[in-house]
Amino acid sequence: MRVHSSPDMILVVGGTGRLGSRLVAGLGYDGKHVRIMARGANHPFPGKAGHGVELLRGSLASRADCEHAVEGCRQVVFAASGFGLKRGGTPRSVDRGGARRLVDAAAAAGVEHIVMMSMHGAAPDAPLEILRAKHAAEESVKASGLAWTAIRMGLNLDQFLASMSEPLETKGRVLVFGSGRAPVTFTSTADASSAVRRALADPALRGKTIEWGSETHTLGTLADAILANAGHGSILQIPVVALRVMAAVSRPFSPFTARMAAAALWMESGSAAFDPAPKRAEFPDIPVAGLRQSLPPLAGSRGTRG
Ligand SMILES: NC(=O)c1ccc[n+]([C@@H]2O[C@H](COP(=O)([O-])OP(=O)(O)OC[C@H]3O[C@@H](n4cnc5c(N)ncnc54)[C@H](OP(=O)(O)O)[C@@H]3O)[C@@H](O)[C@H]2O)c1
Repeated sequence: MRVHSSPDMILVVGGTGRLGSRLVAGLGYDGKHVRIMARGANHPFPGKAGHGVELLRGSLASRADCEHAVEGCRQVVFAASGFGLKRGGTPRSVDRGGARRLVDAAAAAGVEHIVMMSMHGAAPDAPLEILRAKHAAEESVKASGLAWTAIRMGLNLDQFLASMSEPLETKGRVLVFGSGRAPVTFTSTADASSAVRRALADPALRGKTIEWGSETHTLGTLADAILANAGHGSILQIPVVALRVMAAVSRPFSPFTARMAAAALWMESGSAAFDPAPKRAEFPDIPVAGLRQSLPPLAGSRGTRG
């Protein structure tokens, strides 16, 4: 597929995902020209381009696809992820290898600035593969010679609300992974998108790693909010001991389940919590979109623990 040049073109890799699709809509609202790259393997690929939006099917696994995608772009956002994929990728192949391939292609093509979506807890010796991969991706952008911004998100609030609520309509239950008592700092998709839009627009954020959270809650608080909102249902708790078994046993036949269980154990340790206030105070004009804003209006009645 031919791509077009525009002096302000922004490539959003993973532009069909949870964050990516919201970001693309926001950039459209800002009047920006956007190119989306994704495979259409796990997330629906738009049937036709919208005003100012160019579509490119491609994979981070392919060097040629990365080179094609960055052609004529001034800025690039890495919003792809291999963590939640049931097929076609892992944190190692997408968040580490794919990010490096994209950064190399962007540097060779003379892209001006790259925004790397990272995660709170990213470190070379972190206990989760995704956190080690995110650290490696941050190192890639820092070594690339490009202007860069790294945004370390907390766990995605909307994703947790959706996955915990999934069995509510069919089984009347809301899932809680572990004790439900550990503090976790979540970032809503809306907040993540606002941070990326600001990073793209404000040169003062270049060369910075921004830890960006919305609110800190326990999974128990989220479950209570979902039940209150729905007006029915009860909580189904997956005990810590079951998470340990899932993390160890399911790895050979369901790496996805093993990843989710390991992440739940990491949350249980309290390591997923941080104080978002200092960074938020630097951007007082960006309103917090937290739990209250992420749920539909309350239905009024409360559920019970079961
Ligand atoms: N979700 C969280 O809790 C969380 C926390 C911290 C940081 N982050 C980071 O924030 C960013 C956005 O996360 P998200 O939750 O919005 O992700 P998501 O909903 O899982 O979307 C992932 C996107 O990446 C695309 N993708 C996956 N593998 C690809 C490949 N090999 N080549 C091209 N595209 C590929 C997917 O489309 P196809 O699969 O159809 O290609 C989709 O568009 C990611 O970088 C993620 O690591 C997320």
